[in-house]
Amino acid sequence: MMGRSGEDERLFGLEPDADQMRAFAERAVDHVVRHLASLDGQRAVDLDGAVERAAHAREPLPWRPSDYEELFRHLFDEVIPKSINTASPGMLSYVQGGGLFHAAVADFVSLAVNRFVGYAAAAPVLAELEANVVRWFCEILGFPAGAGGVLTSGGSVGHLIAVVAARTKHLGDDLRGARVYASDQLHHSIEKAALVAGLPRDAVRPIATDARYRIELSALDRAISEDRATGRRPFLLVGTGGTTNTGAVDDLTALRGLADREGLWLHVDGAYGGFFRLTERGRAALQGIETADSVVVDPHKSLFLPYGTGAVLTRHVEALRHAHELHSDYVHAVRSEGASVDFASISPELSRDCRGLRVWLPMKMVGAQAFRDALDEKLDLASYAADQLRGIPYLELADEPQLSTVAFHLRDKGDAANQATERILERINDRGRVHLSGTVLRGRAAIRICVLSFRVHRRAIDASLEDLKDALAEEKLDVSQRTV
Ligand SMILES: Cc1ncc(COP(=O)(O)O)c(C=O)c1O
Repeated sequence: MMGRSGEDERLFGLEPDADQMRAFAERAVDHVVRHLASLDGQRAVDLDGAVERAAHAREPLPWRPSDYEELFRHLFDEVIPKSINTASPGMLSYVQGGGLFHAAVADFVSLAVNRFVGYAAAAPVLAELEANVVRWFCEILGFPAGAGGVLTSGGSVGHLIAVVAARTKHLGDDLRGARVYASDQLHHSIEKAALVAGLPRDAVRPIATDARYRIELSALDRAISEDRATGRRPFLLVGTGGTTNTGAVDDLTALRGLADREGLWLHVDGAYGGFFRLTERGRAALQGIETADSVVVDPHKSLFLPYGTGAVLTRHVEALRHAHELHSDYVHAVRSEGASVDFASISPELSRDCRGLRVWLPMKMVGAQAFRDALDEKLDLASYAADQLRGIPYLELADEPQLSTVAFHLRDKGDAANQATERILERINDRGRVHLSGTVLRGRAAIRICVLSFRVHRRAIDASLEDLKDALAEEKLDVSQRTV
């Protein structure tokens, strides 16, 4: 390592030597740690000028090497800050888990060693670590021994795998008249999964929900009878274990009974709520999830992982295999007899990252109890937020929190109230201390507080309530003047 210094040292080709790798990775760690350690002082959202900056970010194919320090500086100073800061301790919008640092380090390890886990024979022990993760998830859900599944890139792909498995089992190759039921609060990834699975465009029939946004069982019953009478072919019932809008949980035990009577596959969308089963209260709320034929959970939501990790779990691993397995001469050699699972045989992907490590490392390092405690804290914070919101004149809750989401409306109804709600949301987010998101519930604009990230604590809730009160006052809705 004689004679190289400064920029020269930071310009290298495809095979950096040991010193270069170390220096490069250390700089990356420095930047990341500086970024994460300063999250408290960063805005929860900063999109000012972001679109203009994005237009300038288009660039030609670079043929020559660049100094990585300069690239890091560009990334951390100019690119990353212009965003909704999904890692922020003020992140209360959408369904955001925060992104555990431990998982990022696990990804670094797994991508650096670059092993293939699609067929267990290629890395039997590493594949078994990922199989452990799948088994842990099955245990958390209360699935029986022998249940299994696969880690996916997210909930959407998990739904796709489940829909394809149910479709193959119940409909074979004839998809005409196929019918899927889910509540009118379903996440659109279910509809997308049905579409991509080749079902007719009108296959998903949304079913009305009750006052607490849970699927109405009588409406579901009627819809199935009507459909059968007109020659449709019901095959799949999707229950939701935590809707995106309000965190509503369908009566999953009743859905199991109905699915059994009607001969349907019961799939549960637990992308948001599934991991709350780690807690006592979540277990009570999600009662019946353990009886589902398949469940999607999203570790990148309620297990706090960075984006890119979902999972589909099922008591019918054979149905996943039947729907996905193909053979070819060139991979035959590495097919694994007797191995616990070949992920490539039960999912659409062949080559992919070894995503199991991303869950395995944090779970082993901090233990499941830490996740349980954090999720319990989120449930506490959601009820605290609901209590506080109940005391604010001009507002009403859309529902009591069933998990860790609280949605609320202005008491007034109609277009003017909807527009005022949007302005209030904008005012809160413009302050940048917290980030909330909105939705529409039965024609009424609502604001949601979804407490999920491991970095969100009481002070974020207090900040959002303060900013909300100020925004109401700025809208000339003086919160101190009117009592409820
Ligand atoms: C209830 C629910 N289901 C499914 C999804 C889709 O999951 P993903 O974004 O991981 O594909 C989401 C995402 O927010 C969700 O909230």
